[in-house]
Amino acid sequence: MPQAKYPKIVVTPPGPKARELVQQDHSLISQSLVRFYPLVAESGQGCIVRDVDGNEFIDFNSGLVCLAVGHSHPKVVAAIKSQAEKLIHYSYTDFYYEKVVQFSKELTKITPGNFPKRVFLGNSGTEAIEAAMKLAKWHTRKHGFISFIGAFHGRTLGSLSLTASKPAQRRHFLPMVPGDTHVPFAYCYRCPFKLEYPDCGMYCVDFIQEQVLDTYLPPEDVAALFTEPIQGEGGYVVPPDDYFKRLKKLLDKNGILMVDDEVQAGMGRTGRWFGIENWGVEPDILCTSKALASGLPIGATVAKADIMDWEGGSHANTFGGNPVSCAAGIEVINAIRDEHLMENAVKQGNYIMKRLKEFQEKYPIIGDVRGKGLMIGAEIVKDPKTKEFGETEAKDIMMKSFRRGLALITCGHSTLRITPPLTITRDLIDPGLDILEGAVKEVAGANK
Ligand SMILES: Cc1ncc(COP(=O)(O)O)c(C=O)c1O
Repeated sequence: MPQAKYPKIVVTPPGPKARELVQQDHSLISQSLVRFYPLVAESGQGCIVRDVDGNEFIDFNSGLVCLAVGHSHPKVVAAIKSQAEKLIHYSYTDFYYEKVVQFSKELTKITPGNFPKRVFLGNSGTEAIEAAMKLAKWHTRKHGFISFIGAFHGRTLGSLSLTASKPAQRRHFLPMVPGDTHVPFAYCYRCPFKLEYPDCGMYCVDFIQEQVLDTYLPPEDVAALFTEPIQGEGGYVVPPDDYFKRLKKLLDKNGILMVDDEVQAGMGRTGRWFGIENWGVEPDILCTSKALASGLPIGATVAKADIMDWEGGSHANTFGGNPVSCAAGIEVINAIRDEHLMENAVKQGNYIMKRLKEFQEKYPIIGDVRGKGLMIGAEIVKDPKTKEFGETEAKDIMMKSFRRGLALITCGHSTLRITPPLTITRDLIDPGLDILEGAVKEVAGANK
């Protein structure tokens, strides 16, 4: 049988150069970061990331879910080079340039809703959320927000107030910005109400009305509800099909804006430009970042034009809408469209889900497999009956995979996340999943 070309492990990672760099990093760099494992990236091409010791990994991470069109897509690289030679900076928040207008026009075309829109550009996911928070306050003149337990919306103090997926994110940073209320999300595998879908009648939506808005949080004081279409850092939690329609109806009834955080799920990852489109819902404000410029910093807040009605000077920044990032973003949109990457996300995602479900039959430590397109999670448990989180097991699987040449990470308590570039094909998926199965099998065996 011919040997698969990838992955290529020439020295068990971390190799000597990687170890040396990690050591320097640990004495120099803020250790507030997460760091899943000592992958010291040197270069990337397509769906392969190469480390400083010459190991080549199959990349099921896409960086941090940023490389939808793969590492160093040639058209994106060409656009970056050409724009960098022309204009690198001239703050769009104080002056004007063409790339911001071109890019924003494209964004208004691909975001859900056939209504006039306006765009605010920042540099990151958290800035897109901060802009949405301020905009919602400015437009509605209300101060309250609702967000979900398990949510991740960023780490600056405004977005952190909405975030609620890990204690470490908030420890010693209290108090948060006042005015946010957290409610349970539709995490059906671990229903917070111990109910079962569909018999539950989606009580988690009724709960917001009955136990929150009708009980102690006057809707007149709530500007917006923030939600991810699929909870990302919270564990790749996919709500049931009719959830968002019901939720949007509730919000409209109470005069509360819906802010859709597509920072992780957006840009084709779920098989649609934006995750919420899988459920036919049009949010009032949408935030996106990560894959937007294939790894260059940018974040966008896109709102209905009549909502983005704030006055001059109310919100701006220096670097947002950088022309090089915008040029890259235009090519990202072109590549997703022209190379049919959303179709590929659905096709390859279905195949990966099918194989993961086969693994689940064989290895009961895989408690749940869920996802849309190429945003896929496999939740690891110690025992499928008790559903006790398999935190050490998930970490073990991740580390074994890394040492064998598959880069994937976890999210939530114990969910393996599978988010390769949308360009991935079977010749890399199969060896990647074979490595994953080998790791799961070993850890499941040790767990008996
Ligand atoms: C859904 C979601 N929102 C917001 C953010 C924050 O983005 P950034 O890290 O660019 O600030 C993230 C980052 O992981 C995210 O996944």
